[in-house]
Amino acid sequence: MEKTKKVLVYCEGKKWLVNNNLKKFSTHFGNIEIPEFKNEIETFQVNKKKFYFFKPSISEFILKIKRKTQIIYPKDLAIILFYSDLKETDNVIETGTGSGSLLIGILSRVKKGKVITIERNQEFRKIAEKNVEDYFGKIPENLEFIEGDVYDENFKLDFVENWADKIFFDLPEPWKAKNLLKYLKIGGILVNYNPQIFQIKKFIEEINGFIDINVFEILERKWIVDEKRARPTDIMRGHTGFIMIARRVE
Ligand SMILES: C[S@@+](CC[C@H](N)C(=O)[O-])C[C@H]1O[C@@H](n2cnc3c(N)ncnc32)[C@H](O)[C@@H]1O
Repeated sequence: MEKTKKVLVYCEGKKWLVNNNLKKFSTHFGNIEIPEFKNEIETFQVNKKKFYFFKPSISEFILKIKRKTQIIYPKDLAIILFYSDLKETDNVIETGTGSGSLLIGILSRVKKGKVITIERNQEFRKIAEKNVEDYFGKIPENLEFIEGDVYDENFKLDFVENWADKIFFDLPEPWKAKNLLKYLKIGGILVNYNPQIFQIKKFIEEINGFIDINVFEILERKWIVDEKRARPTDIMRGHTGFIMIARRVE
């Protein structure tokens, strides 16, 4: 197994994310020995239960990351990464970094462009750094963490205006960071994410020079499909956040 520092352990619908270098870990099924990886998938049997070990997919990893902030969930990330037309060569600015869920998504796409992520809380920044390192095996060379307050009107980046192909905001008061929008290229795409619609509304009212402003939310309804059932699950995640996507023209 290469890269990731974490292994996904699966048994009867339950999943654990454990350190790659761990030898053992305990579950209510008993103590599990983590096998040495020779194949993409390894197995271990204990008390008639079969455990599978494999490299987590990006969404499996993100759902289990260490966090002290709300994160952007895979159902929203999937849409954000595709609708923002994120490319390998894009230069990107993201703020706030939070726990690094969106950041991991961005870095899974952007390999040749530069990614700047800005966070004012040092503790959150360190957690995000660790999450990124755990997923990619190291901090990617095209990533720069900046500690700073993007609401501060004196906050500046060492880049020329019109530098970024894409800008991603996940901030409680995005309108207070609108100064950053000058770093977005004319023709570039802005993505803003907020749990409350008034945040999106206020942001839209306060920004200029954007067209084709799309606001939407993603509802994911899971189904149980087995020998006896083929129906939606009883409970679903009702709300995560609203996504806003717009293009800068001025
Ligand atoms: C909801 S979290 C972002 C979660 C992140 N998108 C993720 O997927 O893990 C919002 C973050 O914005 C940061 N933040 C809030 N105001 C900020 C500011 N003025 N400057 C920089 N970061 C800020 C917070 O500290 C918090 O970590």
